[in-house]
Amino acid sequence: MMKVLVIFLLNLLGVGVVLASDGGGIPLKHVSVNLADRAALYRGAQTFVAQCATCHTAEYMRYGRVASDLHLSKAQAESLMPPHLKLGDEMVSFMPADYAKTVFGTVPPDLTLIARVRGADWLYTYLTSFYADPTKRWGVNNAVFPGVNMPDVFAAMQGVQEPVYNTVKLPDGSSEERLVGLKAPVIPGNMPPAEFDSLVRDLVAYMVYMGEPAKMQRMSYGPYVLGFILLFTVLMFLLKTDYWRDIKKPVKSD
Ligand code: HEC
Repeated sequence: MMKVLVIFLLNLLGVGVVLASDGGGIPLKHVSVNLADRAALYRGAQTFVAQCATCHTAEYMRYGRVASDLHLSKAQAESLMPPHLKLGDEMVSFMPADYAKTVFGTVPPDLTLIARVRGADWLYTYLTSFYADPTKRWGVNNAVFPGVNMPDVFAAMQGVQEPVYNTVKLPDGSSEERLVGLKAPVIPGNMPPAEFDSLVRDLVAYMVYMGEPAKMQRMSYGPYVLGFILLFTVLMFLLKTDYWRDIKKPVKSD
């Protein structure tokens, strides 16, 4: 927790640090996020609300902000919200914290800023790297978050992957089993792998947007700012040429 806090503070200072890998056995998978693709962000928001908001909050984000940033119609916005909530409400979860603590042993963290703390690649790898581990409370473990207390919410869609271990000799002569990869599920999920992959990509894109909604506006201002700088440079160049025209004239001696 302390590590996450320190990295969050560093990020506030503009130092782009993310928790690259949490001691897990597999390298992070890359995901590219296009914040201009509002349809993908909307699909991600739908998955977030349906699959994550039961346990997790996103209490620094309001439904109304999502609706206006993603240019949603009234019907689309309403489809994201529980019926008794208003557009001005935050994306809260209805799971009481003490109940969550009893069931999971920990309160599921707020996810509003999670993409800024962990980074998109980590989130994408995390959400697709649950694997069967009967020794754990929910029967699953995670390759980049060993010992995680979150159930595999995508188990039905993705199927439950199998771990691949390698025996590593330790300096003291003993040996240890290390996780080196994941195998396709024995019982496949009910969603074709490509469709599942794009569902997770859209979800990660939504979480990146949620972590810094202003980025979307910044990106749309970008071309105007660059255009202004270019125009200003041309104007300044013309002005400079005009000033120097007189100065550069050879001084006539009588
Ligand atoms: C059934 C409850 C539940 C659901 C549903 C759920 N989670 Fe979790 N999640 C948890 C719990 C509990 C933890 C804390 C795990 C721990 O610390 O061991 C957690 C942890 C996480 C973390 C790690 C946060 C960190 O510490 O960096 C992320 C990321 C995350 N969840 C994302 C999601 C996403 C995205 C969804 C929706 C697809 C989701 N969760 C759905 C219970 C849930």
